[in-house]
Amino acid sequence: MSAPRQLLTWTIAAIVALLLLVGIVVWRQRIAVQQSSSFLVGDPRIGAQVFQDKGCGQCHAILGSGPKIGPDLGLLGAAGSNMNGLATQMWNHAPRMWEQIAHSSVVYPQFTAQDMANLFAYLYVTCYDDESGNTVHGEILFTQKSCIRCHSIGGVGGHVGPDLRDIGAVTSPIFWAQTMWNHAPAMETHMRALNIPWPQFEGEEMNDLLAYVRQARGGPEMESELLPANPNRGWELFRKKGCIDCHAIRGSGGNVGPDLGSLGSPLPRNLTQMAGRMWNHSPQMWAAMKEKGIERPTFEGQEMADIIAFLYSVRYFELGGSPAIGRDVFSERKCSQCHGPDARGGLIGPNLRTGDKVFTPVSLALALWSHGPRMYSKAQELGLGWPTLNESDLSHLLAFLNSVPSTQQK
Ligand code: HEC
Ligand code: HEC
Ligand code: HEC
Ligand code: HEC
Repeated sequence: MSAPRQLLTWTIAAIVALLLLVGIVVWRQRIAVQQSSSFLVGDPRIGAQVFQDKGCGQCHAILGSGPKIGPDLGLLGAAGSNMNGLATQMWNHAPRMWEQIAHSSVVYPQFTAQDMANLFAYLYVTCYDDESGNTVHGEILFTQKSCIRCHSIGGVGGHVGPDLRDIGAVTSPIFWAQTMWNHAPAMETHMRALNIPWPQFEGEEMNDLLAYVRQARGGPEMESELLPANPNRGWELFRKKGCIDCHAIRGSGGNVGPDLGSLGSPLPRNLTQMAGRMWNHSPQMWAAMKEKGIERPTFEGQEMADIIAFLYSVRYFELGGSPAIGRDVFSERKCSQCHGPDARGGLIGPNLRTGDKVFTPVSLALALWSHGPRMYSKAQELGLGWPTLNESDLSHLLAFLNSVPSTQQK
C-alpha cells in the first residue's frame, strides 16, 4: 500500500472503529437514542494484532501478503465491507475452516466480545474500499460543476473564491465535508448572483473531485490529527448544533428534514458521499433554518467527524430486520430443529432468546467461534448439514433473536 493510501486506510480505520458497535443494549424493540452511549467499540489496530494472535494470519492473507490456505480476507469486497456480509461469510465457511484448523498447528482460538469487535473492525477496514477517486474525472467535474468559474487550482480558473491549491487541510473526506459545509452560505450567495445553479453530486462524483483537488494540492495530509472521532460527542453535537430540531433519529426529534436514523434511505457507504449528500441539500437546509430562526451551525476541529461518526453509528448495523421473517428463516435454515421453533430452546440447542443477550453480526460471530464446533458435531450426529445463511437473512434472523418472546408473534 502506498503511504497516502495507508494513511487514509488508517483514518477510515479509526473512524470505523467507532462505528463498530457490539453489545448494543440499544435496540431491543424500540431503539432509544439516549442509550447510544452503551457501545462496545472495536479498534482495528488492536484487531490486526488479534488476527495474528488467534492464528487467522497463519492461513489467511490480507491483500496478497500472507499464506494462501484460506481465502485472502482483504479481497472479500462487498461482503467484507458490511458487517452482515462478513458474519454470513464466516458462518457459512466455518466448518471447512475448523477442519483446516484441526489439521494444522493452530490452537483453536477463544475470543472475548472485545476481541471479536476488534477483529471485525480490522477486517472491515481491510475490505473498505477507500475509493481513491478518479482525478481525471475530477478535473472534468471541476469545470462541469462550475467550481472553475470561481475557483482556480494553481492559477487556472476564476478568482471569486480562493485558489483551492492554497487552502488548508481539506484533503481528508471529513475535512472536505466540513469545509464545504462551512463555506456553503457564502458560495450560495455568489452562485445566486452569477446565476449558477447549486451543483448536485451523485455517486462517486464528490470523491473524484476531492481526488483532483488533493492531487493538485499535494502536501501533507492532516488525517491523523483528526482522530479519534467520537460518536457520543457527535450525538451531543447533533443536539447542540440544532440538527435534532429538524431531524429525528428513529422517530425522536423534529420532522422538517428527513429522519436520519430511518432505514428508508441508507447512508452513503463512504464518507465523501456523505459530504456530497450534505452539500446537495445545503440550500434547502439553510432555507429551513432561516425560516425557523435557527442559526446555521458551523463546524470546527473534529466536530464534523464526530457528527458523521454518530450518524453512522446509529445506522451501522442496519437493524431493519423483521422478527416475523426472521422466524421463518430460523425454521427454513433448520436452526429450529435444535433450538426449537421459537428459539427458546429445544432438545439439543439452548434457548437463544433469554433476553440477556443482544445479537449483532459481531456477537453472532462470537457465538459461532465459541459454540459452533459443538453445534457442528451435533448436526453431523443428526445427519443434518451445516445450516448456511444468506446475507439478506441475517438482519431478519437477528431481529427475531432480539425480539422479546412474548411480543414477537405479530
Ligand atoms: C487453519 C487455517 C485457518 C485458520 C487458522 C483460519 N481460517 Fe478462516 N478459512 C480457512 C479456510 C480453508 C476457509 C475457506 C473455507 C471454505 O472454502 O468453505 C476459510 C474461510 C474464512 C472466511 C470466509 C471467507 C470467504 O471468502 O468467504 C472468513 C471470513 C474467515 N475464514 C475468517 C477467519 C478468521 C477471522 C480467522 C481467525 C480467527 C480464521 N479465519 C482462521 C482457513 C483458516
Ligand atoms: C459562485 C462562485 C463559487 C462557485 C461556483 C464555487 N465556489 Fe467555492 N467558494 C466561493 C467563495 C466566495 C468561497 C469563500 C467563502 C467564504 O469565505 O466563506 C468559497 C469557498 C470554498 C471552499 C473553502 C475554501 C477555504 O478557504 O477553506 C471550498 C473547499 C470550495 N469553495 C469548493 C468549491 C467547489 C468544490 C465548488 C464546485 C462544486 C465550488 N467551491 C464552487 C465561491 C464559489
Ligand atoms: C432547520 C432545519 C434543519 C436543520 C437545523 C438541519 N437540517 Fe439537515 N436537512 C433539513 C432539510 C429540510 C433537509 C432536506 C433538504 C432537501 O430535501 O433537499 C435536510 C437534509 C439533510 C441531509 C441529507 C439527508 C438525505 O437523506 O440525503 C443530511 C445528511 C442532513 N440534513 C444533516 C444535517 C445535520 C448533520 C444537521 C446539523 C448540523 C442538520 N442537518 C441540520 C433541515 C435541517
Ligand atoms: C444440530 C443442532 C443445531 C442446529 C441445526 C443449530 N444449532 Fe445453534 N446450537 C446448538 C448447540 C448444541 C449449541 C450449544 C453449543 C455449546 O454449548 O457450545 C448451539 C449454540 C448456538 C448459539 C450460541 C448460544 C449462546 O449461548 O451464545 C447460537 C447463537 C446458535 N446456536 C445459533 C444458531 C443458528 C442461528 C442456527 C441456524 C442457522 C443454529 N444455531 C442451528 C445446536 C444447533
